[in-house]
Amino acid sequence: MKGFWNLTSTISLTLSILFLFGYSYEDVSAVPTTHLCRPDQRDALLQFKNEFEVLNSSFAYDCIINKTIVKPHRKTVSWMNNSDCCNWEGITCNPNSGEVIELNLSCSNLRGKFHSKSSLRNLHSLTTLLLSNNEFSGPIMSLIGNLSDLTSLDLSRNGFSDFSGPIPSSIGNLSYLTFLDLSSNRFSGPIPSSIGNLYNLTDLDLSGNYIVGEIPSSFGNLNQLTRLSVGLNRLNGSFPIALLNLTKLSYLALYENQFTGTIPHNITSLSKLTTFDGSNNAFAGTLPSSLFTIPSMESVGLSDNQLSRILEFGNISSPPQLRELYVGNNNLRGPIPATISKFTNLVELDLSHYKTQGPVDFSIFSHLKLLKLLDLSHLDTTTAIDLNDFLSYFKKLERLDLSGNHFSATNKSPVPVSPLLHQLHLSGCGITEFPEFARSQNMEWLDISNNKIKGQVPGWLWTLPNLTYLNLSNNTFTGFGNSMKHGLSMEQLFASNNNFTGNIPSFICDLRGLLILDLSNNNFSGVIPRCMENLYLVVLSLRQNRLHGGLPENIFESLTTLDVGHNKLTGKLPKSLINSSFLEVLNVESNFFNDTFPFWLSSLPHLKILVLRSNAFHGPIHDTSFPKLQIVDISQNHFNGSLSSDYFVKWSAMLSLGKNYDQWDDKYMGVSYYHDSMVLMNKGLEMELVRILKIYTALDFSGNKFEGEIPRSIGLLKELHVLNLSNNAFTGHIPSSLGNLTALESLDVSQNQLSGEIPQELGELSFLSYMNFSHNQLTGLVPGGTQFQRLDCTSFEDNPGLFGPSLDEDCRDIHMPTPHETPESEDEEEEEEEVLSWIAAVIGVIPGIAFGWAIGYILFSYKPEWFMNPFARNKRRISSTTTH
Ligand SMILES: *[C@@H]1O[C@H](CO)[C@@H](O)[C@H](O)[C@H]1NC(C)=O
Ligand SMILES: *[C@@H]1O[C@H](CO)[C@@H](O)[C@H](O)[C@H]1NC(C)=O
Ligand SMILES: *[C@@H]1O[C@H](CO)[C@@H](O)[C@H](O)[C@H]1NC(C)=O
Ligand SMILES: *[C@@H]1O[C@H](CO)[C@@H](O)[C@H](O)[C@H]1NC(C)=O
Ligand SMILES: *[C@@H]1O[C@H](CO)[C@@H](O)[C@H](O)[C@H]1NC(C)=O
Ligand SMILES: *[C@@H]1O[C@H](CO)[C@@H](O)[C@H](O)[C@H]1NC(C)=O
Ligand SMILES: *[C@@H]1O[C@H](CO)[C@@H](O)[C@H](O)[C@H]1NC(C)=O
Ligand SMILES: *[C@@H]1O[C@H](CO)[C@@H](O)[C@H](O)[C@H]1NC(C)=O
Ligand SMILES: *[C@@H]1O[C@H](CO)[C@@H](O)[C@H](O)[C@H]1NC(C)=O
Ligand SMILES: *[C@@H]1O[C@H](CO)[C@@H](O)[C@H](O)[C@H]1NC(C)=O
Repeated sequence: MKGFWNLTSTISLTLSILFLFGYSYEDVSAVPTTHLCRPDQRDALLQFKNEFEVLNSSFAYDCIINKTIVKPHRKTVSWMNNSDCCNWEGITCNPNSGEVIELNLSCSNLRGKFHSKSSLRNLHSLTTLLLSNNEFSGPIMSLIGNLSDLTSLDLSRNGFSDFSGPIPSSIGNLSYLTFLDLSSNRFSGPIPSSIGNLYNLTDLDLSGNYIVGEIPSSFGNLNQLTRLSVGLNRLNGSFPIALLNLTKLSYLALYENQFTGTIPHNITSLSKLTTFDGSNNAFAGTLPSSLFTIPSMESVGLSDNQLSRILEFGNISSPPQLRELYVGNNNLRGPIPATISKFTNLVELDLSHYKTQGPVDFSIFSHLKLLKLLDLSHLDTTTAIDLNDFLSYFKKLERLDLSGNHFSATNKSPVPVSPLLHQLHLSGCGITEFPEFARSQNMEWLDISNNKIKGQVPGWLWTLPNLTYLNLSNNTFTGFGNSMKHGLSMEQLFASNNNFTGNIPSFICDLRGLLILDLSNNNFSGVIPRCMENLYLVVLSLRQNRLHGGLPENIFESLTTLDVGHNKLTGKLPKSLINSSFLEVLNVESNFFNDTFPFWLSSLPHLKILVLRSNAFHGPIHDTSFPKLQIVDISQNHFNGSLSSDYFVKWSAMLSLGKNYDQWDDKYMGVSYYHDSMVLMNKGLEMELVRILKIYTALDFSGNKFEGEIPRSIGLLKELHVLNLSNNAFTGHIPSSLGNLTALESLDVSQNQLSGEIPQELGELSFLSYMNFSHNQLTGLVPGGTQFQRLDCTSFEDNPGLFGPSLDEDCRDIHMPTPHETPESEDEEEEEEEVLSWIAAVIGVIPGIAFGWAIGYILFSYKPEWFMNPFARNKRRISSTTTH
């Protein structure tokens, strides 16, 4: 476990550059020795090789094999007809029979589906089949159950492609199997109970799939099992009691499923248990104190559950072995038991969000001399922490989170802490002075957001050689102190929501490792410094400042998000954006850009959000395809012309979002701790989306001069939630194809010159809660259906010929150009309530929960792994290192 942590935490910029721009790898050729290979075996192998495509090494993803990071390597390329197959890379033969007994093609850049008659079936004597870290897709072939000599089977980490479908129950025929790893794929369906026949199994890892249902009771037969991980699936039911039969079990990971109920008190029967991670489920009730008295128990992870009431440790005579205890983010309440001081072997302790609701005697922690990680954030206590005293308790502390608590003193002379603190989280502690003592620590991660610190950001911060993450946001800083010397390790700098004024300081360009820069919501003025072109930024947000001038000509190729909305920028969008092939979000809303429609952006393969709202863009918007675009807002500009009837045919993402994000990803748009935001008109209200759900879709063309008919192809955008075409010059009928937009929640076609009837099909759209047809020339019967009946009159006003039961007596004067009545206040309240809950759904995440999302499965997104908060990763270390 430790090895993994150290290794990944040292991968830094080098990896990102390699990652972004690819790397090469030279093949190692086989060394010929005596010929052993049996021709039938050779033919089967060559055939197997040809069943798959071998990808180029560059742009492939790093592999993790046995907790070690490995570069992909195309093993099968060296397989030649005229050489001895027993010497081929990845092959081991039985020296007597010449049969292949081991096939190891882990991390070999293979892509493709398994054939149902794969030649694998001819390798009868295989005992070891290792195929992890490739890009297999489709289901596991059921013939796997015929390889009856298998003892080890590893199909893990093919989740980046689409290795999916159910786990074939024929796996239960592999009775010699001791090692089975299917983790980090997209397998679905239930766990076949036949796995309970694999009596010799010692290691079983099914984590990181979409597996549903309960753990089969047949698992009670797996009495050789020492490691079991089913974390990060969709399993449910209560704690699987059958597991209490497994007396050799030492590692049990149930984290991130939907398990409910209590954890049984007789869990002590698992006398070999050293690790129990049930984090992020819905376990409730009291924690059994017997869990802590299992003699061998070293690690308990039960954070993010609904465990309630008090924490009890029972009778403790000698110091327990427990080294890691994670019970944060539950509903635990009451005093923290003083017996915690007996757990002197603790190295990591998370009691965050423990509702003490009273005073806390912090000296109980002073006995925990071995602590390296301590999370006491949000204790809900009346006691103010004397940070100087507190730090003097510990001799080994490296990571400390005291966010959401209050201090009596922070700023006395620095306490000698040895070795030094690496991570310090003091978010929302009401502190008013910069914590100067951090200067003498070995800071890698410093979060002092949401406080009341005024004045200059001290210049010494930029000299800290190891600082990679700095969060200053939501304070009242007014300026940056500079320094001559600069550390090179700063990767993420958050300084939004402060009172910074003046130019963006150019020393920022000297922070050469910078990847995320968020200076939004300040008062920066002047132009964007051109020297920024020299950085390899992944995220740049300068939103909501007072910047003028143009965007830098040579925009960074590495960007995934560029947000310069709400400034005073002018000019055109730089054509160099076309090289930003990772770009997902481009937001230039509310500036003075004066340009034609950037149709050339359609070549960006990942572009998901394009916001040109409220600028001086003009001209027609050519027929184009945006394969990944799901939010497009070009409203309040001067676009004109008509749209061909098949205009939207190639906007594939809105046709079908597909597997656009995974459960192991964050569900909001963004990178690492940065979340994208935007302003959007929805249901007639302008709202700021502080976070944007990855499944959200919207199309806003309003406030332009578009004319002609609304393209019929709009009916293809089946994923669309918000459609706003208002305030243009559209003519003709409302296309009945709109009736196919089953996800639609908000539709605004007001202030056009539309004629004909409102399509009756719209009456069947059950999510459609806001519609506006006002100020057109619509006629005929208004569709029935509750959605229509709930609309108020203003939605229909100023249409000459609309009638129908949906327009009841309240709507007397809908034909008049201006409303005579304000809508009923009751209705309005209801509408408002809906909107509020919608905002809550969009924004609804608290920082504590964010920990849970940032876990070690980022491998499958294009985000490099080091982007995770090391604190969170440490917290989740048990779960992110489950491969044997
Ligand atoms: C892979 O590399 C070969 C030559 O090295 C090249 O011809 C081919 O286009 C590359 N394929 C891809 C998908 O990049
Ligand atoms: C994984 O690595 C450990 C040492 O780090 C080693 O003991 C073990 O045999 C390795 N397992 C495999 C399957 O390579
Ligand atoms: C389990 O392994 C033992 C040897 O370790 C073997 O004798 C036995 O047959 C195996 N059990 C099954 C069901 O294959
Ligand atoms: C527990 O294991 C024994 C064999 O050791 C087996 O006979 C029994 O059926 C198992 N019980 C459950 C509930 O699986
Ligand atoms: C553990 O307790 C449960 C009830 O809570 C009981 O059903 C089960 O048989 C017990 N198992 C063992 C191994 O004692
Ligand atoms: C920075 O980190 C390195 C390696 O971890 C360490 O040797 C060095 O002492 C650290 N620098 C400071 C100022 O703490
Ligand atoms: C800013 O910090 C204050 C506490 O100082 C907090 O109440 C507020 O919610 C924070 N605002 C944001 C936008 O995070
Ligand atoms: C921050 O700036 C705002 C407006 O720019 C001002 O109202 C406020 O007083 C400033 N706060 C501090 C603490 O300087
Ligand atoms: C946009 O630029 C053109 C000249 O290139 C100018 O004629 C036009 O007035 C500008 N539009 C706005 C709204 O500034
Ligand atoms: C709605 O979609 C179906 C197929 O999904 C299609 O057959 C039908 O023509 C569409 N209706 C309209 C009005 O476009």
